[in-house]
Amino acid sequence: MVNSFACALVLAGGKGTRMHSDKPKVLKTLLGESMLYYVFSALVPSLGEDIFTIVGFGAEHVEKAFPEMKDRFVLQAEQLGTGHALQMGWERIKESGREYCLVINGDTPLISADYVGDFLNSVDRDRPDISFITITPNDPCQFGRVTRDQNGKVTAIVEAKDYDVALHGPASGEVNAGIYCLKIDSVESLLSRLNNNNKSGEYYITDLVDLAVDCGMNVTAVNCGNSIDLMGINSPYELAQAESALRRRMAEKLLNSGVTLYNWESVVVGPNVSIEPGVEITGPCEIYGKTVVRRGAVIESHVRILDSVIAEEAHIKAYSHLEQADVGPECMVGPYGRLRPGAVLKKGAKIGNFVEMKKAVLGEGAKASHLTYLGDSEIGAGTNIGAGTITCNYDGKNKHKTVIGEDAFIGSNTALVAPVNIGRGTLIGAGSTITKDVKDGELAVARGRQVNIPRTFKKS
Ligand code: UD1
Ligand code: CA
Repeated sequence: MVNSFACALVLAGGKGTRMHSDKPKVLKTLLGESMLYYVFSALVPSLGEDIFTIVGFGAEHVEKAFPEMKDRFVLQAEQLGTGHALQMGWERIKESGREYCLVINGDTPLISADYVGDFLNSVDRDRPDISFITITPNDPCQFGRVTRDQNGKVTAIVEAKDYDVALHGPASGEVNAGIYCLKIDSVESLLSRLNNNNKSGEYYITDLVDLAVDCGMNVTAVNCGNSIDLMGINSPYELAQAESALRRRMAEKLLNSGVTLYNWESVVVGPNVSIEPGVEITGPCEIYGKTVVRRGAVIESHVRILDSVIAEEAHIKAYSHLEQADVGPECMVGPYGRLRPGAVLKKGAKIGNFVEMKKAVLGEGAKASHLTYLGDSEIGAGTNIGAGTITCNYDGKNKHKTVIGEDAFIGSNTALVAPVNIGRGTLIGAGSTITKDVKDGELAVARGRQVNIPRTFKKS
């Protein structure tokens, strides 16, 4: 249920230096979707559309990845720290007219909608000035250390670099998860008091806690124990750990729903993929995007599928690569099939090894079994495309179409120079280069005649 008392601000402006990437860290992917995608997905059920996002380093890449959030990005031109990011977003937060703002680091992709919902419910109940989530991981890494007084009340968050045992006492192991709920009216007075007098020379959002406690405000921290779901991701190693946890969860969900997975630990399935019970998948393989795999389909190892539909009883053999393809019921693809965007296979059609299709429809029961390119084409039902057939669709400037009727037989090693129409029931002789239309029922042969000449041998 959408919570009406809070808006959200996602902090996604930082470079992510520890990731050693030229693109913003928050666009690094887990199971084919970006960190930021997961954060937004966790927020939307509780916060609806009132989600603002701070962008800075590589802002254009982030904005391009989420066009639907277009009006709710706020630019932090210089990245001077998380506190500065909050300051940059403050006007938009106030304009939302909400009482609270949930602020979350964009590098916390494993957080679930339930965590967000529970946290907001606790804030709604207790009405603190500031509340934030803490964890107690096995290794506190570089996370901000939480300090409490003798009565267990939170006193501050001290960044790891600035933590001084002599000053702050022995660390408790409780650290800040980077998820806060701020009462907008209360925090307003603290914002301008943030400074960068610390080891990083940055404005820290975490200093709000210390400042609020000093003013006698009500600050609460919700400890969620040792949960990997709330860990921020800063390095390739942490990203791999998080992805591995997600992959395992996804595989368990599929197995429990009735999908058979062989070599299951190496089956990678994205969060938006739908796989029906009764499907068989052999790892290693990757299935991403909005792919749908229907009951009875078989997917062999080393297959990569993105945004495609695999219908009932279809069989995708090893090493095939599919993107935006539509594979009909009982079809066969591969091994080593390549279906590019717009490839459509009607019921029972067959694509064999080293066959590439792009914007092409293969009719019901039609076959292209070996070494073929079909681009910008329509192939009728029952037609057989011989080995080595090429639709020559590109003249250097424009793409042209090849249309082949039903029950045709295209001999091996045929070049079909588009635009060209090949009628139904036609036969094209092997090795032909077809530049003119062929009418229904005709035989076309277009190749140099064979000449056999007796050899003469010199006597030595
Ligand atoms: C931050 C917290 C730390 C906490 C940890 C949890 C601070 C000062 N520290 O540390 O207490 O334990 O998260 O994961 O906040 N960002 C901006 N603009 C900036 C800088 C950062 O938008 O100028 C964004 C980043 O893109 C990132 C998020 O803020 O998504 C957190 O920044 P990061 O540098 O990862 O903070 P940590 O060092 O992990
Ligand atoms: Ca971080």
